[in-house]
Amino acid sequence: MKKRMTAATLRAAKTKQKTMVWLTAYDAGSARIAEESGVDVILVGDSVGMVNLGYDSTIPVTVEDMVLHTSSVVRGRNKAWVVCDLPFGSYQTSKEQAFATSSLILQQTGCDAIKLEGGTHMAETVRFLSERGVAVVGHIGMTPQSVKNFGSFRTRGSNTAEAESIYNDALAIAQAGAVALVLECIPADLAKRITDNIGTPTVGIGAGKACDAQVLVWHDVLGLSENTPPFAKPYANLREQAVTAISAWADDVRDKT
Ligand code: KIV
Repeated sequence: MKKRMTAATLRAAKTKQKTMVWLTAYDAGSARIAEESGVDVILVGDSVGMVNLGYDSTIPVTVEDMVLHTSSVVRGRNKAWVVCDLPFGSYQTSKEQAFATSSLILQQTGCDAIKLEGGTHMAETVRFLSERGVAVVGHIGMTPQSVKNFGSFRTRGSNTAEAESIYNDALAIAQAGAVALVLECIPADLAKRITDNIGTPTVGIGAGKACDAQVLVWHDVLGLSENTPPFAKPYANLREQAVTAISAWADDVRDKT
């Protein structure tokens, strides 16, 4: 029987070159389905703001939103490692603010780790949290909480200067003690260079196949999204199936059948 995932399991998987599967989920029912499908890590992403709460970015998501969704996922999981995103504004002011938010989330939800966005400038915070017992997942490359600054959700690291800066971000976050590092929307060769040169497991999303793990958003895998990003391959078409099913039921209701 498969044991509960831990930070040690994730580190060991990199050593054994075993590719891990991460998936987002936002409620207990979805967490149970992810578990049944053999997912290793469930990420309660602040993408919940865009796919469930109707916002056009992750910026409006609050700590309360993350506590609600993450505690629901924790109730639905059995073996998977559960990671909760720290939402925008809840950790960037200081390392002390980051610890206060992380401890609140860990205590109120029962999740295993937190994730935060940012490179070299967040390394001191990652070290501060790690030294105090918090399992931290980093997130670099296209970091959605910076969309207002970037101006779009486009790939990062396509020119040499940006690629070097992302590479240095990876080294800094890995050396600061992160348990894993999400690489979002960066060129595959840069993701491979990072993966080959750090001991921390990398988790790719739109970053090629060389990463130690892959993560996708629930709605993108299942074909539930209105706009699936170009790097995500839908493995079902549940949005269309849902519209067909609900329309058929609605017709039956109107026909009094
Ligand atoms: O919020 C999220 O779902 C994420 C993944 C896209 C990595 O951060």
